[in-house]
Amino acid sequence: MTHGLITVFGGTGFLGRAIVRHLVESGATVRIAARHPYAPDLAGASDQIELQTADVRDEDSVAEAVNGATSVVNAVGLYVEQGKATFDTIHVEGAGRVARRAQQAGIRRLVYISGIGVDPASPSKFVRARAYGEQRVHNAFSDAVILRPSVMFGPNDAFLGALKTVTRLPVVPLFGNGATRLQPVYVEDVAKAVLQALDTPEAAGKIFELGGAQIYSYRDIVERVLAYFDRRRLLLPVPFSVWKILARMASLLPNPPLTRDQVILMEMDNVVGTGIGTFADLDIDPRSLEQMLSHCLGESLH
Ligand SMILES: NC(=O)c1ccc[n+]([C@@H]2O[C@H](COP(=O)([O-])OP(=O)(O)OC[C@H]3O[C@@H](n4cnc5c(N)ncnc54)[C@H](OP(=O)(O)O)[C@@H]3O)[C@@H](O)[C@H]2O)c1
Repeated sequence: MTHGLITVFGGTGFLGRAIVRHLVESGATVRIAARHPYAPDLAGASDQIELQTADVRDEDSVAEAVNGATSVVNAVGLYVEQGKATFDTIHVEGAGRVARRAQQAGIRRLVYISGIGVDPASPSKFVRARAYGEQRVHNAFSDAVILRPSVMFGPNDAFLGALKTVTRLPVVPLFGNGATRLQPVYVEDVAKAVLQALDTPEAAGKIFELGGAQIYSYRDIVERVLAYFDRRRLLLPVPFSVWKILARMASLLPNPPLTRDQVILMEMDNVVGTGIGTFADLDIDPRSLEQMLSHCLGESLH
């Protein structure tokens, strides 16, 4: 049972909304901190929700957002750099700022959302920033719990949503030959892990990698989505070098559907490592993509 006031930075995002709902259902009061915060549609919960305009790049607004809170969750996301909102300012400096201000405010527990595959030596600026961000968080708040999900899925997500669209094409392009291994994790299971991380004393200072119940190759996932919609398509292997060229062209668009960082991430397996905390250590039995496919993809007759 999570008590007190919990500030959730990024509480309006895909994961943040699930975290806020789980916290409210557990009886906590939640302060949603984002640049454009809005109240979730949770019946009868308005007295458990506070809205706080905050930008993790801004010292004062971060201090205000953590003031009086018992615990803090940082689920801020940035996938495409836009002007001054860069991977460095959000995922490195912003992450460090939230951790430092949380420490100064005497916050009991900080949970920081990162991702599987963080690597300070990655060719991806995004992946490098996530690794440096984790270091900043750890340096400022040594008891912070770091959660690294694999690719997350849920109703109206980006991952299955893109596959739903791409499998309508007559030919479905694969990343490389589609052999990259992924461990998709249900967004609700990650939200449960956040609550456990807030409540479990032994989690302090630890890193957990969160993957779903089953590992699939990318090709496997495409084939399952095709089978779900009863579509028969040719699968076309496309070299990563070609994807990088396509991503460079897409970067000229205002909302690029694909980034170079995503292509680099797809070159590497994204599965839970060894010798690190997992769902099992948080007493959670995660679901598999297969189990949740109809719930997430909806009507299959089209
Ligand atoms: N989605 C996945 O498959 C996946 C997988 C692994 C790890 N993760 C990680 O999980 C976390 C959450 O991802 P998500 O997909 O839920 O992200 P998301 O849907 O893009 O949500 C991003 C959230 O961050 C807030 N935000 C953005 N810039 C901000 C700023 N400068 N200051 C304060 N708040 C800001 C946004 O609200 P405003 O725009 O109103 O500020 C929004 O609430 C991220 O760290 C992400 O890298 C995601």
